[in-house]
Amino acid sequence: MKILVTGGAGYIGSHTCVELLNNDYELVILDNFSNSSKDVLDNIKKITNKDFTFYEGDMIDKNLLQTIFNENEIEAVIDFAAFKAVGESVSKPVAYYQNNVSTILNLLTIMQEHNVKKLVFSSSATVYGNPASVPITEDFPIGNTTNPYGTSKLMVEQILKDLYNSDNSWDIAILRYFNPVGAHESGLIGEAPIGKPNNLMPFITKVAKGELPKLMVFGNDYNTVDGTGVRDYIHVVDLAIGHIKALEKLNKENKGLFIYNLGTGTGYSVLQLIETFERVNNIRINYEITDRRPGDIDSCYSDPTKSKNELNFQTKKSLDDMCKDAWNFEKNYHK
Ligand code: WQD
Repeated sequence: MKILVTGGAGYIGSHTCVELLNNDYELVILDNFSNSSKDVLDNIKKITNKDFTFYEGDMIDKNLLQTIFNENEIEAVIDFAAFKAVGESVSKPVAYYQNNVSTILNLLTIMQEHNVKKLVFSSSATVYGNPASVPITEDFPIGNTTNPYGTSKLMVEQILKDLYNSDNSWDIAILRYFNPVGAHESGLIGEAPIGKPNNLMPFITKVAKGELPKLMVFGNDYNTVDGTGVRDYIHVVDLAIGHIKALEKLNKENKGLFIYNLGTGTGYSVLQLIETFERVNNIRINYEITDRRPGDIDSCYSDPTKSKNELNFQTKKSLDDMCKDAWNFEKNYHK
């Protein structure tokens, strides 16, 4: 029996594939390389010394999905395939809804036809919009998303809830990520956004490498410890392990639809992240305080109690580890 990992060559997908292979799962990976490259697959094999089945293509292609399910005995699917740049989603909403929403309708249709009803879905803390307070638990209200990326995740969560209400023989885990950062300790895989980075950590590593002149800190007048935005940074390897825990939960006898925050439960400000990165890597980061970025919020961090109690999931890696591993990958990465 195999696990289909869509978007498995991507940042979070590739780290999850490493952990799945290390746990002796058999994998089928699907990726269209829209935000990743083939050498990621080679590096997954190098890290794990294991092989897997790979299909290049897009979930918009129903025939390809049909072929994958006809040619492989799939027992569960982990779906990472989505665009995830908040700023880009504002300028390209149709592309985001096409890629992040209509594709999952294809996947669910084919899964149903093949009676495959175990799904782990990559969602996001952005579905909480601007929370009334922090830390955030899974029963906080969702909606009031501030960008098409977050809205696309909200739409898919609703689709999955409606599907489960129509047929509760499905086992679905919706995982709401906070801010994934860092890289595998080997430095072989990590966050390699195409073009100028949207997110904070890859921007910092590009400044550290000298590829970008300085970091713009988007506002220091937020209601936080030092006025800069506070986020719950989670090491991507901890996040990957959270997917293994979710899959194990779905493989137990109890059926259902489950929603979990995947975060550390601790928030750090932009300046605290910069200071940690500088200290851990003995590098100075050139930055300038500028205006707020539209759509940003003051604070966003998780209450991880539910995933600890129900998934036996607890993050192990520190902010120091995240900064060390992110820089180690950037130093080794050659595009
Ligand atoms: C973090 C903090 C910025 C860049 C994103 C998306 C989504 C989600 C998590 C998966 C904020 C500040 C950033 C910069 C800055 N991932 N910043 N200068 O916006 O919290 O969330 O990642 O679902 O991709 O929602 O992440 O890294 O962009 O910003 O000052 O050049 O860093 O204002 O306070 P964000 P981010």
